[in-house]
Amino acid sequence: MRRWHVMADLCRKHGLRRGVELGVREGRFTKHLLLHVPDSHMTGVDSWCALPARDEPGAETYERWPMARFRAEALSLASLFPSRCRMLEMTTDEAALVVPDASVDFVFVDADHTEEAVARDIAAWTPKVRPGGLIAGHDIRWPTVRRAVAASGPFEEAGHDQVWLRWIK
Ligand SMILES: C[S@@+](CC[C@H](N)C(=O)[O-])C[C@H]1O[C@@H](n2cnc3c(N)ncnc32)[C@H](O)[C@@H]1O
Repeated sequence: MRRWHVMADLCRKHGLRRGVELGVREGRFTKHLLLHVPDSHMTGVDSWCALPARDEPGAETYERWPMARFRAEALSLASLFPSRCRMLEMTTDEAALVVPDASVDFVFVDADHTEEAVARDIAAWTPKVRPGGLIAGHDIRWPTVRRAVAASGPFEEAGHDQVWLRWIK
């Protein structure tokens, strides 16, 4: 079971319809939710660019990733669902200034995996989720991700594909 199956199940079970994916790559996650969660609306956020090398655990440069292709696929996905999907080509910090507080049902955190960046994404994006919604993310077995998630509060592990989750009160 991949992360998009885990989240699609949770969305259908708990009526989560408006979501944000931080770190889209080519859009597999968002595509699955659009196809398998009725009336879902997705915002994807990705800068689709290589990053400078950083001497920090969890830091990736994406140098070998075909970012132009990933970007084109993600934008093409959004064009297939014009009323249900938008892609924000910007950093997760920049996008947090665009999305109003308490306006979405869930956020899935899967962008920069350094401890500092995951902590910043959780801090910036938790207020975007309405009470009763969900903040979740990928790669909880990465030590950097685990430290950032654990430091931000209690969380559950979904038991599949390294997904972590926290319900917002
Ligand atoms: C692990 S991949 C995302 C995988 C995707 N969520 C999936 O399930 O297939 C990480 C993505 O995050 C993006 N990214 C990394 N740091 C970012 C940042 N600060 N702002 C926006 N996007 C970022 C990268 O460009 C990359 O496409």
